[in-house]
Amino acid sequence: MLRHLAIIMDGNGRWAKNRFKPRFFGHQEGAKTIHSITETCVKKGIKYLSLYAFSTENWNRPKKEIDFLMNLLEKYLHEQTQTYLDSNIIFKVIGDISVFNSKLQEKIHHLQSITAESCNGLTQILALNYGAKDELRRAFLKIQNKNLPITQESITQNLDTAGIPEVDMLIRTGGEQRLSNFLLWQSAYAELFFTKTLWPDFGSDELEAMIEKFATRQRRFGAI
Ligand code: FPP
Repeated sequence: MLRHLAIIMDGNGRWAKNRFKPRFFGHQEGAKTIHSITETCVKKGIKYLSLYAFSTENWNRPKKEIDFLMNLLEKYLHEQTQTYLDSNIIFKVIGDISVFNSKLQEKIHHLQSITAESCNGLTQILALNYGAKDELRRAFLKIQNKNLPITQESITQNLDTAGIPEVDMLIRTGGEQRLSNFLLWQSAYAELFFTKTLWPDFGSDELEAMIEKFATRQRRFGAI
């Protein structure tokens, strides 16, 4: 069953370059794809959609690009607030957002709390300043502070994704075939899908075809 879909949204920069435009242009277009793909997932009845928006490694990009992405995020959250409510989408962030400016943090907290209160449809999980290794490190610290034993269960329950089921299907756009530190623990048994399509070009038809393919894969979870 497809309960949790995770997507590594790659290829914005190349999409823009192919059009002789600055990288920013690709990110702007990529934000529109977030909207359309989320709506497709709502229609398909998927309960959890995780999107890799900004990794702990993305700080190595030029400051101008980072600033642009932060502004785009703030604008996106502002513009999409009504859409989240209208489409019954719960918004959740994973990753360490304590490094973001306080206005952005406030916007994130606000959207999380109003959608948690009034929505019960798809949960859209946006990974921001997220890295799976950093998430595990923070989980171990929480376990230590709570004096809990280290078990698979305590680790799962202290990750940012506590309460969210494991990833069933993971898609990476943009042609690379790697996980890039995204939801490593949660994707232990995920079915992996890679496409050369650049994220701004990724459309509902391709997603739906992948979902059909996913349904034909036999998942044995280590059994025979
Ligand atoms: C990869 O493209 C994409 C990202 C760095 C993150 C995804 C960001 C967006 C979809 C922009 C909008 C986000 C929000 C939440 C408003 P890349 O720059 O690595 O592309 P490249 O591999 O072609 O250079």
